[in-house]
Formats: sequence, structure tokens, C-alpha cells
Amino acid sequence: MDIKGKTALVTGAATGIGLEYVKELLRNGAQNVAVLDFDARKGENAVKELKKEYGSGRVIFIKTDVTNATELEEGFKKTYETFKALDIVINNAGILDDGRWELEIAINVNAVVRGTLLGFQYMGKDKGGKGGIVVNIASILGLAAIAGCPVYTATKHAVVGITRSLGLPYHFDRTGVRVVAICPGVTDTNLISEAHKRQLSGEWGRECGREVDELPKQRPEHVAKEMMRLIKKGGSGSLWVCEGGQPAYEIHIPDRQTLKVE
Ligand SMILES: NC(=O)c1ccc[n+]([C@@H]2O[C@H](COP(=O)([O-])OP(=O)(O)OC[C@H]3O[C@@H](n4cnc5c(N)ncnc54)[C@H](O)[C@@H]3O)[C@@H](O)[C@H]2O)c1
Repeated sequence: MDIKGKTALVTGAATGIGLEYVKELLRNGAQNVAVLDFDARKGENAVKELKKEYGSGRVIFIKTDVTNATELEEGFKKTYETFKALDIVINNAGILDDGRWELEIAINVNAVVRGTLLGFQYMGKDKGGKGGIVVNIASILGLAAIAGCPVYTATKHAVVGITRSLGLPYHFDRTGVRVVAICPGVTDTNLISEAHKRQLSGEWGRECGREVDELPKQRPEHVAKEMMRLIKKGGSGSLWVCEGGQPAYEIHIPDRQTLKVE
């Protein structure tokens, strides 16, 4: 897909890696981007700055708590009504907070499922759309386990599962919507710097901090640059690891056929 002229919607985009996705989309010629986040102050500030740099008509902020189904649906509706198009959806909002694990599941899993289904609804050729792409944000912890944040790890495994399943030809052939996931490694944002404070018990928090400290680090701007490659070239159902500031690479998990025992 050529990003030039396209319309994108990014959740959790007031700060962190999400905001970098928005900047990179605009740099790559996206015509319009909707920034969805529940933090209105940060979201409005970010959009004010983006408008100065990229022009006032290209970016909007929509206050959206992704755990609220009505708000998320309204966010998609407002984006479509404002820009008369939708081509790229990035389900990015996420938290690392096993101390509030029900909320963590609601944001990291339920809202990603809902955002993906809304992507099909607005972009699916079977619904009168033009096709498009949904990128779900998993993590290297969607592929590997660590002890200090087990529920976060489970939520990111769920993102991998829904992306692979909804990315299969059965869905793509009908809808023309590619579903792809990126699995970033440790990236320098508030999610990481505050992580040790948010775990189920102090002891788990310390373990989470220790495990994260051992992993290679990278800047959010790097993940955003690699994201553009995925949008352009990522096959439906594909998973891409982006870690340690290195180029993103595709990873293959054995499929049903491979796992079949004779
Ligand atoms: N930082 C990392 O090391 C890392 C690694 C792998 C994956 N990820 C994933 O990348 C995504 C972005 O993470 P980040 O590091 O930029 O985090 P961050 O904490 O810096 O930013 C998260 C953004 O999501 C918003 N948000 C949180 N809850 C929300 C809700 N209910 N509704 C709407 N918006 C909400 C926040 O306001 C914030 O703007 C997450 O899905 C995270 O799990 C991050």
C-alpha cells in the first residue's frame, strides 16, 4: 500500500509510540490522521503541534476511551464522516499494569478485537469499502513469556492470535483488509519507565523491572519508521518483531498443518 493520500486512525496516539506513528504517517504523505486517546489534554496539545507542522485540515483529535464500545464506535464514525475515507487502522492503545489486570485485558485485548472488527466494518470490500489495513500492536511478550507481568504477556499473546486468525485468506479474500501485527521490544516510553510501580505485588514488579532491564532498548521513533514498512508490505496475518533499534523482521509461528500429529 502506498501511504500517500491515505486516511488513518490511531488509538492511544496522544503520547508514546502512538504519537510517533501519527508523525511518521504524515511525513509519508498520509492525507489525514485521526488521533484517538482518552487523555484530552495531551491529545489536544499533540494535535495542536501537528497542525502547525502539517497543516490544519489533516489531523483531528477525538477523545476516546477504547474500553467504552460506544466511544470507540463514535471515534471510527467521526473519522469517516470528517475525512470521507478510512484506509489504515492502528490499534495501539495499551497499558502494562498487572495490578489492574481486568482493565489491562479490556484495553489490550477487548479494544483491539473491537477496533479490528470496526476496521472490517469501515474498510471491508464486502461492506462497500475499498479494503485497507489493520495493524495491531502486540509485543515481543506476545511471543515469549516473562515472570513479572504474566497478564500483560497473555494480552499480547491474544493480540498475536486474533491477528493471525483474522489475517487468514478466508477473511482477506472477502474484505480486502490485511490484518498485521508488530511486536516491539522494549521501547523508551512511560509504559516502561513506570512499569515497576504497576505490578500485582512489589516482588513481581521488581522481577518485571529486572527482566525488562536485560532486554535491548530502542526509541519510539524507530518503531514508527519500521511500522511504515509493514503498512506498505506486510502480508495479511504476518507478525513483525522490531527490537533493539534493528530493522523489523517477519516471524513465523507453526500453523495448524505443521502441528498436526500423524
Ligand atoms: N514501550 C514498550 O516497550 C512497548 C513494547 C511493546 C509493545 N508496546 C505496546 O505499544 C503500545 C503503545 O505503548 P507506549 O509504550 O507508547 O505506551 P504509553 O503509555 O507511552 O502510551 C499509551 C497511550 O495510550 C493511551 N491510553 C491508555 N489507555 C487508554 C484508553 N483506555 N483509551 C484510549 N487511550 C488510552 C494513553 O493515554 C497513552 O497516550 C501499547 O499497546 C504497548 O503495549 C510497548
